[in-house]
Amino acid sequence: MADVEWWRSAVIYQVYPRSFADSDGDGVGDLPGVTGKLAYLADLGVDAVWLSPFYRSPMVDGGYDVADHRDVDPVFGTLSDFDGMLAEAHKVGLKVIVDIVPNHTSDQHPWFQEQRRDQYVFRNGRGERPPNDWQSLFGGPAWTRVADGSWYLHLFDPGQPDLNWRNPQVRDEFDAILRFWLDRGVDGFRVDVAHGMIKAEGLPDLGRNTVLPYFDQEEVHEIYRAWRKLIDSYPGERMTVAEVFDSEPDRVARYVAGDELHQAFNFDFLEAPWDPAVLRGVIDASLEAAGNVGAPTTWVLSNHDRRRHVTRFGGGLTGLRRARAAALLMLGLPGSAYVYQGEELGLPEVLDLPDEVRVDPQWIRSGGREPGRDGCRVPLPWEGDAPPFGFSPARRSWLPMPPEWAAATVAVQRDDPDSMLNLYRKALRLRRPAREFAWRPAPDGVLCFETERFLVAANLGGSPVPLPTAPVLASSPLTDELPPDTTVWIRT
Ligand code: GLC
Repeated sequence: MADVEWWRSAVIYQVYPRSFADSDGDGVGDLPGVTGKLAYLADLGVDAVWLSPFYRSPMVDGGYDVADHRDVDPVFGTLSDFDGMLAEAHKVGLKVIVDIVPNHTSDQHPWFQEQRRDQYVFRNGRGERPPNDWQSLFGGPAWTRVADGSWYLHLFDPGQPDLNWRNPQVRDEFDAILRFWLDRGVDGFRVDVAHGMIKAEGLPDLGRNTVLPYFDQEEVHEIYRAWRKLIDSYPGERMTVAEVFDSEPDRVARYVAGDELHQAFNFDFLEAPWDPAVLRGVIDASLEAAGNVGAPTTWVLSNHDRRRHVTRFGGGLTGLRRARAAALLMLGLPGSAYVYQGEELGLPEVLDLPDEVRVDPQWIRSGGREPGRDGCRVPLPWEGDAPPFGFSPARRSWLPMPPEWAAATVAVQRDDPDSMLNLYRKALRLRRPAREFAWRPAPDGVLCFETERFLVAANLGGSPVPLPTAPVLASSPLTDELPPDTTVWIRT
């Protein structure tokens, strides 16, 4: 693919490093593990890899609690392992995007340890009560009290104090962090909680507000305008992708207007049920909102925070069949697509992890009421008949792997022409950048659109429908009709 604005149509594979591949036998994935599998990713046919955090971290929130932004946590390897991985990725033609977590640090970060209060959001309480009524997104109050009686804000775990982005030192520090990784040669950043860094002046009570005083404040856009200038001052085509939650596509689109970030995740697409009317609406709204600001649309079905889509779409054979159809639907759309590790193997959510192995703060802080995200973070099965399926040279993996994944390993799927893995491989080989999009008439329950590459028809209805011409790719075997829960690509 030409390098010019490669990100506009890229397929970006998310590596969750703890669960991808373990090279040293401690049961936790690491950077040399990633390096060892880059050939697999190049062969899969993706354009880039996004790595979730591998920085120094006490791992209270799986590495999204960063204690040192300029070093690799020993569990994942060393900086030189990172450099080796990056060089090898570039050699096999893959771009590398790293995660940047600007909303908060770990409470083990030197600033917090040195009690640098101006870098964080410290306030006095209201008597014995916290400064306001904000709740942590992981459950419980968003404030924790320290020895002198004052409170600090943490929108997530108490181990993740929120930074004070009104302090210029915080901005300078993050400029330096961006430069540190750009200088090493990364191709971009995924920006964690990109809408959260600026809190409303005065930290008002949430009360009955529907507009959250801790999200999407106007000033946050200034930060991205400054970052964009910094990033554009580097040679090559580097990109950014924002994790922004907002129910209004036009508000999300503001983050990807020309002078801010490049892409934003499309969580409306991820959250859509397997329903043709809902999906059609989301596709229209996404294309329109991104188109209005000249940004590419993005598409995503799963990530490290959400229940895997095989399970969301019904689980079992139905879930798998729909996941196959969803993959061709997603990869047939114009724009850029994100693939979460393991979705190319059709992995389901692991729903029956024993309580004692669960580590997600969402599960812990909700007192077990929320299942949490461990079930989508179970390590990948690579080969062999028994756990840990080649994930680790040791006998264990940090989360146990279901024995039935013996049938889902990369080794098994590689040799099966009809496997999910080979469906992704074929689709990624046929896929080409597309910018045009038009709906075509179709029977009830069928989504049919045309790009300059393909006519894509996805049957989400309950009965088979006639097929106009022979497709180049089908998500499930065809009769001479298009069966339910099946997508085809037809060359135009
Ligand atoms: C993002 C990450 C999630 C993390 C949270 C706090 O939503 O994707 O994994 O828990 O930010 O950093």
